[in-house]
Amino acid sequence: MKITKAIIPAAGLGTRVLPATKAIPKEMFPIVDKPAIQYIVEEAAKSGIEDILIITSRGKFEIEDHFDRAPELEAKLAEGGKQEMLDQIVDVTKLANITYIRQMEQKGLGHAVLQAKKFVGDEPFAVMYGDDVIIGEDPCIGQLIRAYEHTGLCGAVGIKSVLAEEIQKYSSMKIEPIKDNIFKVTDMIEKPKPGQEFSLYSILGRCVLPPEIFGILEEIPYGAGNELQLTDAMRVLAKRDGFAGIDFTGTRYDMGNKLGILKASVEVGLTHPEIGEEFKEYIREIAKEI
Ligand code: UTP
Repeated sequence: MKITKAIIPAAGLGTRVLPATKAIPKEMFPIVDKPAIQYIVEEAAKSGIEDILIITSRGKFEIEDHFDRAPELEAKLAEGGKQEMLDQIVDVTKLANITYIRQMEQKGLGHAVLQAKKFVGDEPFAVMYGDDVIIGEDPCIGQLIRAYEHTGLCGAVGIKSVLAEEIQKYSSMKIEPIKDNIFKVTDMIEKPKPGQEFSLYSILGRCVLPPEIFGILEEIPYGAGNELQLTDAMRVLAKRDGFAGIDFTGTRYDMGNKLGILKASVEVGLTHPEIGEEFKEYIREIAKEI
């Protein structure tokens, strides 16, 4: 079945980047001149996604405003003949049909995904974590959708190898090679304790799930960190049917992490058509002093 729906969980508290996230959602942090979540919606649109549900929470209304029309600003730009800027802010409202739902309590990623049950209905869907920006030639979620279709497995997960000393902060996948960068994931564990990890491959930011995930999320107990863990629900399906695991191409920036935010700004800044050259000069100068 063709995948046309995506959900973007963006309701988390962002405690790793306080105090910045006290009043500003991390999903709205800019990477040069676009908020993180716009990169994610653009990736979805380029991958054939038509309908997006963004899961928000109290104090995250800026996300809705960003994808809405802004009549006063548009009139001002039109009056001043600033057509390019006007196009940019109108185009962002046309990327997809975007709707919103609030997760009233932050009980974990699995709990956030559960809020999308009605929106999804009875079809497979994409999940794109709201604080994971992935930039590359071939949009990441499109790579997962293709692998899902080709392998016929019950879903797909974007995976990357993480550092051995960091695996406990992530999830760990049990994998068998299928072809090139595609693996079969047959088991998984969230935040493994030392010795519990299957491999250094972890799910990073994207997956394709079947609708039966909702029934599983409703049944399973709360897991690591006393949160309803999406990985725990996916594990049931991984062990039964197997997921496609795609070691995707593209660079992932963790916008929920201080270093990730800086790396995103520097790397996107260096190739930015407007300020890239000047920024390169600046970085060269400043590097001499480090
Ligand atoms: P994270 O665990 O990275 O986000 O979840 P967090 O809970 O905001 O992080 P910290 O530890 O407090 O800094 C990955 C994605 O899932 C969303 C987040 O917004 C993020 O985009 N999420 C997480 C929810 O929507 N609801 C939740 O209850 C938890």
